[in-house]
Amino acid sequence: MPDQPNITYAQLVTLLEVSRKINSQLNLQMLLDEIMDLAIGLLHAEKGLILLRNESKELTVQVARHMDKHSIADVVELSRSIIKQVEKEGKSVLLQNVPDSGDIPSTSSMIRYKIKSVICVPLRTKNKLIGTIYLDTTKSEHFFKKEDLEFLEGFANLAGIAVENAKNYQEVEQLVKERTSDLETAYEELQATQTQLIRSEKMASLGQLVAGVAHEINTPLGSISSNADMFISTFAKLRNRLQSLEDSPDEILKPIKILEDLSQVNKMASERIKKIVGTLKNFARLDEEEFKIVDIHEGIDSTLSLTAHLYRDRIEVVKEYGNLPKINCHPSQLNQVFMNTLVNACQSIKGKGTITIKTRFSGGKIHLQFSDTGVGIAPENLAKIFDPGFTTKGVGVGTGLGLSISYKIIEEHSGKIDVYSKVGKGTTFTVHLPLEGKKQSE
Ligand SMILES: Nc1ncnc2c1ncn2[C@@H]1O[C@H](COP(=O)(O)OP(=O)(O)OP(=O)(O)O)[C@@H](O)[C@H]1O
Ligand SMILES: [Mg+2]
Repeated sequence: MPDQPNITYAQLVTLLEVSRKINSQLNLQMLLDEIMDLAIGLLHAEKGLILLRNESKELTVQVARHMDKHSIADVVELSRSIIKQVEKEGKSVLLQNVPDSGDIPSTSSMIRYKIKSVICVPLRTKNKLIGTIYLDTTKSEHFFKKEDLEFLEGFANLAGIAVENAKNYQEVEQLVKERTSDLETAYEELQATQTQLIRSEKMASLGQLVAGVAHEINTPLGSISSNADMFISTFAKLRNRLQSLEDSPDEILKPIKILEDLSQVNKMASERIKKIVGTLKNFARLDEEEFKIVDIHEGIDSTLSLTAHLYRDRIEVVKEYGNLPKINCHPSQLNQVFMNTLVNACQSIKGKGTITIKTRFSGGKIHLQFSDTGVGIAPENLAKIFDPGFTTKGVGVGTGLGLSISYKIIEEHSGKIDVYSKVGKGTTFTVHLPLEGKKQSE
């Protein structure tokens, strides 16, 4: 028949309060700190230590109060034998007259620090030993009594459950953290795929548009151009014939000359349209889906031609082109970057202003700088401008995709794009590209 615990009513009330206090703490380390302080306070001990068993059943120090390294090592050793004893006999340990402490040998630090009384109880959960609470004092032998041991055992039972709860909570919290991070990663991947999809859709529809326009324009343009040639030669023949007549009639020669000149104008106009169609094709580079070695200046120039309606008569475009080597890149994709950067620059300039395009080759890379004298970007927006969907241009004006797509394209070219901006002064986007832009993996 085991001994009945001799816990007083007052001690029971204390245990109840302790239970309330520690059960509300779910942070394991804070809980262990609290348990330690309560144990020292309730038993008027001088020093204390809490050890917990890790997964490989090794005892590890969790909290130590007023103890140096040497005594901690000793207590860990002592706790090991106590745990063994507890496991074997199911009993806690009370040493009332160190060093003559019976079964448990006194340690060197007990003797050195003149420890007189030691109390050590196991921390358990559901009959599993999870660690120990150790307390000692130099005050007097028999300082800790049998009642103290029983009280501390009761306290340790409550503490064990609270520790188990906190551990479970920590595990759940960790699980939630992992799941949240998995979800975040999945969301980011989804966003990237969506951007990629929108980009290829944008490219595909732009390509189709260009192909359609080029096709539609080319056929009638061919007729206009060859007709203009025909008119020019016919009118020239007619004029020559009339001029060879003895009294060439001026009233007929003059209109023929006018028609001849107009045909020349038509011829020049159709040449211009042909050039524009060529530029459009060059921009979309429909026939060139793969990486290719190209002159970047050509891409910038064709983009400038296509955006001319946005800046003509309003914005001066200054080109400061350096000597650039040709680079291996996806030309139509880079043209998309130039297009978005130039459109953004034009849109940022309200009224008159300047766009400066500087290019340079250094450090084995090409650097393309697009500066505008526009409204600039507010510092709080600078970190967001590359986010898909971020726009300050209002619904229906901007989709907020231009820069995120550009960023992705430059990244795929193993390059970098950065921005410098001052509100009211303007913005500079700089694109850095390696000569061999093609990704290693491709
Ligand atoms: N040169 C610039 N000057 C000032 N603000 C800029 C400039 N370039 C980009 N921004 C800011 O960055 C935001 C995002 O640009 P982004 O090109 O991604 O989208 P958008 O131009 O708003 O829309 P979209 O390009 O899809 O038509 C813009 O709304 C604008 O606030
Ligand atoms: Mg844009």
